[in-house]
Amino acid sequence: MLNKLLFHHFPNIKSWLTRLQYEFLSTLNLKKDVLFMNFGYTAHQQGNETIPLDPEDEIHRYPLQLYHHVAKDIDWENAEALEVSSGRGGGAHFIMRQFKPKSYTGVDFSTRAIEFCRQHYNNVEGLKFHHGNAEALTFADNSFDVVVNVEASLYYPNITKFYEHVRRVLKPDGYFLYTDLRYEEKVAIWHAQLKNMGLKLIKEEDITNNVLKAMELDRERRKHLVDKYVPAILRKQFYHFAGLTPNSPNARPHLENRRYWYFVLQKT
Ligand SMILES: C[S@@+](CC[C@H](N)C(=O)[O-])C[C@H]1O[C@@H](n2cnc3c(N)ncnc32)[C@H](O)[C@@H]1O
Repeated sequence: MLNKLLFHHFPNIKSWLTRLQYEFLSTLNLKKDVLFMNFGYTAHQQGNETIPLDPEDEIHRYPLQLYHHVAKDIDWENAEALEVSSGRGGGAHFIMRQFKPKSYTGVDFSTRAIEFCRQHYNNVEGLKFHHGNAEALTFADNSFDVVVNVEASLYYPNITKFYEHVRRVLKPDGYFLYTDLRYEEKVAIWHAQLKNMGLKLIKEEDITNNVLKAMELDRERRKHLVDKYVPAILRKQFYHFAGLTPNSPNARPHLENRRYWYFVLQKT
């Protein structure tokens, strides 16, 4: 409760603390165990619908399915794409292989994550990674056909600056593929901010139940990762960070009164 009050009045503290957690994570030798850092997606209400994956991707099924869900609605042929907050690059690499855009540039605030991506995906043609800030993108106007953003904008202190840059760097007709979560009471403001971006809303979907189900199905893997890599003294904090219930990581995962949405917007 105190945290919520503090973060509500001083959003920069939360952003700073979260960046600290990401920087800490990137000091650990996570290697190929952690290529994604999102809560995941499963199309549970459509029955057994799952996407076919290569055996080495199976361990990352749920976070990878979130990227698939976000990317599947547009034509990627010859697209020059930018992902803002590409993390450890698993989503960028998956989209490059699955949807085959002409090029895909990942940008992240974490220098260590960018270093990891440059080494780990160094033989994938057209896939590049740059250090950068979502609120101060340095790319030229009208330079991308697609901008992707997955579970990251909640950490940006000035979200409207990010939206201005997305609009600026998109080419006319370009798509903004976007998914993230917000506290329930912030969802209406969030939708209004998106409306003010000046892009055309093509699709929007509340995927909270899909994400919750994925978190449940992926819980053992997440818990195992925290137990394996995070020192005992910090584990409680990182269970929370990984979407596990802090005091009882085996309990059902929770999103703490938050809603997870997915949007497709287009620059007209
Ligand atoms: C939850 S992770 C998601 C990473 C990736 N999209 C994925 O799904 O695996 C959030 C990412 O946002 C990045 N980030 C936070 N603030 C940022 C900023 N201002 N500019 C660029 N990246 C930022 C963090 O470094 C982290 O890699």
